[in-house]
Amino acid sequence: MERSLILIKPDGVQRSLIGTIISRLEKQGLKLIAIKMLKLDKSLAQQHYAPHKDKPFFSSLVTYVISAPIVAAIFEGEGAVELIRKAAGETDPAKAAAETIRSDFGLDIEKNTIHGSDSTETARMEIRLFFSDDEIFNYH
Ligand code: RTP
Ligand code: MG
Repeated sequence: MERSLILIKPDGVQRSLIGTIISRLEKQGLKLIAIKMLKLDKSLAQQHYAPHKDKPFFSSLVTYVISAPIVAAIFEGEGAVELIRKAAGETDPAKAAAETIRSDFGLDIEKNTIHGSDSTETARMEIRLFFSDDEIFNYH
């Protein structure tokens, strides 16, 4: 079954949006199979955002994501990657479609509340980065 990694970024945790965001994704019919709160260290943040390492916003992004705890979770379900990208909305909250998480809660193009894997291959790599096998659950 398809899986996707989400992160509730510092701005979401700091504004008490954890429950709201998890609930929105559960309501999409997605199944929560792993979840934890953690404070990223610089090395994990740089690894997670490595595809952006040459972008001008990279160092600001890393500083931001390590600034407060985040929540990492894995959702499973048919089309999970696409469903979550749609529920999150465009990167820039000002451009995100109505009723998406970023449109409703995002503060700016950096502090945009949620991360979702952008492909099934990226999801596999990101899940490996954040979770060990014994932290991922299989239930009916
Ligand atoms: P994400 O990876 O977090 O799900 O977001 P995304 O695919 O929509 O956007 P991406 O291009 O992968 O960018 C990763 C994160 O970097 C920050 N960002 N800042 N200042 C800027 O112009 C800028 N552009 C992107 C955002 O936090 C974005 O989610
Ligand atoms: Mg991305």
